[in-house]
Amino acid sequence: MSVLVDGLRKRFRDKVALDGFDLRVRPGTVCGLLGPNGAGKTTAVRVLSTLVRADAGRAEVAGFDVGRQPAQVRRRIGLVGQHAAVDEVLSGRQNLELFGRLYHLTGSRARARASELLDRFGLADTGNRAVRHYSGGMRRRLDLAAGMILAPPVLFLDEPTTGLDPRARNEVWDAVRSLVADGTTVLLTTQYLDEADQLADQIAVIDAGRAIAGGSPAELKSRIGGDRLEVVVHDAADLPVAAELLRTIAGAEPERDVDRRRVGAPVRDRVAALTEVVRALDAGGVPVEDIALRRPTLDEVFLTLTDGKVSA
Ligand SMILES: Nc1ncnc2c1ncn2[C@@H]1O[C@H](COP(=O)(O)OP(=O)(O)OP(=O)(O)O)[C@@H](O)[C@H]1O
Ligand SMILES: [Mg+2]
Repeated sequence: MSVLVDGLRKRFRDKVALDGFDLRVRPGTVCGLLGPNGAGKTTAVRVLSTLVRADAGRAEVAGFDVGRQPAQVRRRIGLVGQHAAVDEVLSGRQNLELFGRLYHLTGSRARARASELLDRFGLADTGNRAVRHYSGGMRRRLDLAAGMILAPPVLFLDEPTTGLDPRARNEVWDAVRSLVADGTTVLLTTQYLDEADQLADQIAVIDAGRAIAGGSPAELKSRIGGDRLEVVVHDAADLPVAAELLRTIAGAEPERDVDRRRVGAPVRDRVAALTEVVRALDAGGVPVEDIALRRPTLDEVFLTLTDGKVSA
């Protein structure tokens, strides 16, 4: 295992951040640690990267104990924090050279590594510009590059795309995929199911400092019923007809929101269900205002996984 965590506990004064947290990450895979604000994601990453000591439990990274062999662990990990670590005034290249020197590379080795990484993360053209002129996606890719200076076998990414627009998120996702293709093991935290879905082989759902569910994206999604198909009818009088159609197609009792003239149900084969419902509504002459396929939100995942027992 690249990451092995058993019963990790960490308390900050009266606040319990990790409450018996367990995790396994196999070498060469991406694990998505998915959880809401305050769930304990950053604390877990900080313990695993030896920045914080756990109160109890066991954690190994790349075969070394984070508490007893922190130097061994540090040599084998990269960490990209939740907040950017790069200097705004320096250029991307200068930032990477600086990180290289911090990691004790020689000047020429640091320069060579900076060039390699700028190429690697699509920053070769902008490498000599000050970081304050970079877009959000470029900054985040520079952060990734800084975390990869020593080509570590295990990389921790704390919310790599929070606050980025869709295009920048895609750029960062591509960068992560290229690292994984080279064999890097990645543990990334995220609040977004779709991000975990895009990148992760395995997802661990964390809430209130504990792992509450885990599995492949497909396993988790099938447990929570997959996508939702929602139909908003033009005329409230058509709601029962639309609900009946959706019930037949989805094979489940749809939820009705009379005020918004909306019915919705979980569907398994999203495209087939969408096509069928469009045809059926059209054939039935039901005027429709909107039809949408929607991924379950993180809230819905949590509510489903915990049977609605989770408090905010
Ligand atoms: N240094 C600290 N001192 C006191 N409390 C802390 C400290 N670090 C974390 N906590 C608390 O521990 C809990 C878990 O925090 P953590 O930062 O690990 O959550 P998170 O899942 O990373 O949240 P976010 O999505 O907001 O980044 C929170 O209630 C937080 O307030
Ligand atoms: Mg955090």
